[in-house]
Amino acid sequence: MKVLVAGGTGYIGSHICVELLQANHDVVVIDDFSNSKPEVLKYIKEITGKDVKFYEFNILDEKKTEEVFKENDLDAVIHCAAFKAVGESVEKPIEYYTNNLTTTLIVAKMMKKYHVNNIVFSSSATVYGDPEVVPLTEDCKLGETTNPYGASKAMMERILTDVQHACPEMSVTLLRYFNPIGAHESGLLGEDPKGIPNNLMPYIMKVAAGELPCLGVFGDDYDTPDGTGVRDYIHVVDLAKGHVLAIEKYNKPGLHICNLGTGRGYSVLELVHAFERVNGVKVKYEIKPRRAGDIATCYADPTRAKEELGWVATKGIDDMCRDTWNFAKTRMK
Ligand code: WQD
Repeated sequence: MKVLVAGGTGYIGSHICVELLQANHDVVVIDDFSNSKPEVLKYIKEITGKDVKFYEFNILDEKKTEEVFKENDLDAVIHCAAFKAVGESVEKPIEYYTNNLTTTLIVAKMMKKYHVNNIVFSSSATVYGDPEVVPLTEDCKLGETTNPYGASKAMMERILTDVQHACPEMSVTLLRYFNPIGAHESGLLGEDPKGIPNNLMPYIMKVAAGELPCLGVFGDDYDTPDGTGVRDYIHVVDLAKGHVLAIEKYNKPGLHICNLGTGRGYSVLELVHAFERVNGVKVKYEIKPRRAGDIATCYADPTRAKEELGWVATKGIDDMCRDTWNFAKTRMK
């Protein structure tokens, strides 16, 4: 298939490009490097021996987006172009809603106009809000989102769901990611946020590397075994493989919703200690107050991904810790 990866040089998008190329798909990428670097294209080539066809602009530029649809006979779109920092979204709701919603509308409009009938959308477990029960199945009620980033993901799901109802020939897949971490085993691709990271694993990585002095653990009084928050961490390469299966197996008209998680939760301190053990490094931490909007426990029921896609997570917490540190070391060279 010829697949457009919108946001294809980002953390998740770049791993998706690698898996698509290795599965012999052709890949077209649009990215504006707003949260990624041009070197990523070189690294994708180094890993796969193949090039993607690359366009640099923001999808908000509708004319340029239309040119890409005109020039390429696309079979499918994987849409992971979005702003994604929870804290920043609270400060900049207009930018977040404009970017995340308008790009989704433009992609959907072009797909309709150029008869591209298969889209896989990067959604998030954040759409479930504070879960009433865990593990979360796809049939669980959608919850209150607590920030504009999360709200934009829920709205993007809604937009694409409505588009599918209006265009029943379309395949719309909503992949709800749990907590993607880790890096490519080559050490070339990974997550390297600018400034102070919001998410746990990049923060651990920067403390271990000596770039930040100490990790703040946000709360140790949750109703969890050790009191710290529990999440379903999933290796980014497993996540990327899930997208390849989704564009292949859900390539039939309808709305498809699927969790991508491992089904196993780890606490903040379990992740910190795994990182120390696997990599032989020290991660200094101190307990801080709870972070606003955080929930105690969140993990997936991944049964549907197994049954419908034949997908199961193959990499465990040790792989996630090892590959993250390998990426950090490669990037520091
Ligand atoms: C994980 C755990 C924190 C940082 C968010 C978004 C979600 C998705 C991923 C992204 C929690 C604790 C964290 C730190 C800590 N979207 N923590 N110290 O909150 O589960 O999900 O990111 O692009 O939509 O909501 O992930 O990595 O921020 O936090 O103690 O410095 O680590 O409290 O328990 P989260 P996270």
